[in-house]
Amino acid sequence: MRVIVVKDKMEMGKRAAALIAEDMRKKRGPYVLGLATGSTPIPLYQELIRLHKSEGLDFSTCISFNLDEYVGLSGDHDQSYRYFMNTQLFDHVNINKKNTFVPDGMAKDVEAFCEQYEAMIDDVGGIDYQVLGIGANGHIGFNEPGSSLGSLTRIKTLTERTISDNARFFARKEDVPTLAITMGIGTIFKARKAVLLANGAGKADAIKASLEGPVASFCPASALQLHRWATYVVDEAAAAKLTLNHET
Ligand code: F6R
Repeated sequence: MRVIVVKDKMEMGKRAAALIAEDMRKKRGPYVLGLATGSTPIPLYQELIRLHKSEGLDFSTCISFNLDEYVGLSGDHDQSYRYFMNTQLFDHVNINKKNTFVPDGMAKDVEAFCEQYEAMIDDVGGIDYQVLGIGANGHIGFNEPGSSLGSLTRIKTLTERTISDNARFFARKEDVPTLAITMGIGTIFKARKAVLLANGAGKADAIKASLEGPVASFCPASALQLHRWATYVVDEAAAAKLTLNHET
C-alpha cells in the first residue's frame, strides 16, 4: 500500500487531486469516479475545480457514483449528499449532471434500487478511481464496524458514534437520519484504484488500525490492505500513530 503523509488538509487535497487528474488524463473514453462526501474531501474537490478552471481538466466524459446517501432525505435537502455533491463539485466543473449518480434516499423499493445501483456501476465498466474518507470508527462509506467485507450496495443502520459525529451538520442530533444506503466494501473493492483521505488527530486511531492492524470487519477500511491499488493521503495529525515507513 502507498501511504503519503502531508503537512495539512490543503496539501492532502492537492496530492489526491494530482493522482486522480493524472489518471483521468490518461484514460480514453468515459472515466468513472467513485465519490465521497463529508468534510475530508472538500479540499480535494476544491483542487479538482481549480484544475478544471485553470488547467483544463475535463470532466465532460466523466460518470460518477457516490458512495452513500441518507435514507429519507431527498436530493434538494441541504444535508443530502446529492446537494453536497452539486454544491461542492458538480456545479463548478463541466460534468454532465445526468451522468452523476448518488443513491436515492427516497427509493420506495430500496432492495431493488441497490441491485440496480450495482448493475449501473458494472454496466459502465466499473469505477476507475474511488475517493474515500474514513470514520473515526474505521468506517468507509457507511459500512460500519462489523460490515461484511464482501458486502454490496445495501441499507445500513448508522452507529451511535457516526450519528454523533454527523450531528454537527444538522440543527439537532435527532434530525440525523439513522439509516443510509451505502455501497458495500465489496463494491468499493471492485474499483481499479482507491484513494483514502484523512486529516486531523480525530482520525489517528482509525488510520493506525486500518493500516497496521489486522484485516477485519471491525475496521472496515482495513479491507483496503487487500486492494491492489490503494493509496492513503493523510495529514501529519492523522498519521501520528503510524509506526511503519511512509512517503512524504
Ligand atoms: C461519506 C462517507 C463517510 C465519510 C466519513 C468521514 O460519503 O463515505 O465514510 O467519509 O464519515 O467523514 P468526514 O470526512 O466528515 O470526517
